[in-house]
Amino acid sequence: MKILCVVGARPNFVKIAPIVAELKARGVEQVLLHTGQHYDDEMSQVFFDDLGIPRPDVDLGVGSAPHAVQTGEVMIHFDEHLLSIRPDAVVVVGDVNSTLACALAAVKRRVPVVHVEAGLRCGDRYMPEEINRVLTDHISELLFTPSSDADDNLRREGIDPGRIFRVGNIMIDSLLAHRERALKSDVLERLSLLSEDYAVVTLHRPENVDGRDRLLHFCAVLTEVAERLPVVFPIHPRTRSEAQRHGLLERLENTPGLVVTSPLGYLDFMALALHSKIVLTDSGGLQEETTVYGIPCLTLRPSTERPITVTEGTNTIVGDDRAKILAECERILAGNGKRGRTPELWDGRTAPRIVDVLTKRFG
Ligand code: UD1
Repeated sequence: MKILCVVGARPNFVKIAPIVAELKARGVEQVLLHTGQHYDDEMSQVFFDDLGIPRPDVDLGVGSAPHAVQTGEVMIHFDEHLLSIRPDAVVVVGDVNSTLACALAAVKRRVPVVHVEAGLRCGDRYMPEEINRVLTDHISELLFTPSSDADDNLRREGIDPGRIFRVGNIMIDSLLAHRERALKSDVLERLSLLSEDYAVVTLHRPENVDGRDRLLHFCAVLTEVAERLPVVFPIHPRTRSEAQRHGLLERLENTPGLVVTSPLGYLDFMALALHSKIVLTDSGGLQEETTVYGIPCLTLRPSTERPITVTEGTNTIVGDDRAKILAECERILAGNGKRGRTPELWDGRTAPRIVDVLTKRFG
């Protein structure tokens, strides 16, 4: 069998790494294709280096553009390669524009699509990722899910249960494989931080960072949090350019207690999160990683597509509610942060389970 694996944006790299490694270990023929949705070294290359992902065989170099253009460009260029590579299946991961674009191009060529991290739903159709999730799932031949809520969502939407395989959380394979190396990172010294004495913030969702009012709101909240403990903010390029555009970058950089850094690599960021007291984020993956680290996570969104991180893990949904965010921070600082447990099958063995199914189906 010949498997074509697709990556495009930062969260994809963490999910594809263990699958590529497992396919290689079993001697399966594979092609790795990067759409180029993320292209800065700090958004892309550093993850290949940290995670030991081989150089992509194909790089479409698509880059940034409005959604329709980005999705369309990926489809057009991916389609050309699909014809020459002729894979037995295309593996897509997560919920970014590249995920949907390649899935759609593949299914139109009657190449089976395999979706890893299927079935997640937050119910908010204004989020681009929610559209990408729903559509990718509905055109996929095999759907690999991380949790039983995802299975339920897919069944409720009428997807044949015979195509759904609960294999666990693929990101945790990477996390467990690289944790020891991450702990050797010197990121705390570089940023002059003390273990368990700071908060980490990530913020990049368009609904949180696009527009002056939204950014101003979060600047004010982060300023207040930074009065209680140091706050490290590795700033996403989208957030940086919005802050710059609205004249807020300098204000952020000059806020006492707030440390604004460039985006960090996988190992440095894992070390930073592992040693932190609180994580505040609008990322999806970080909600899951903090659950496994046992670090309290405050999710700066009104909902989550990963409810198991709330019911079983350390995640609390706080949205943009200033009072709630500050109250939760106080609770954590007082030693009453949420303690959770690691969900079933988030055990670092998800990639072998996926490749077992692929081998049975396409081998
Ligand atoms: C994308 C994903 C999002 C994911 C995020 C992780 C979609 C719809 N969104 O959002 O789900 O959580 O990646 O980072 O696919 N930029 C750079 N350098 C880069 C990449 C982007 O400067 O290497 C800047 C550009 O100004 C670009 C903007 O970031 O316009 C947004 O990039 P884009 O890929 O469209 O979406 P993200 O916000 O990164």
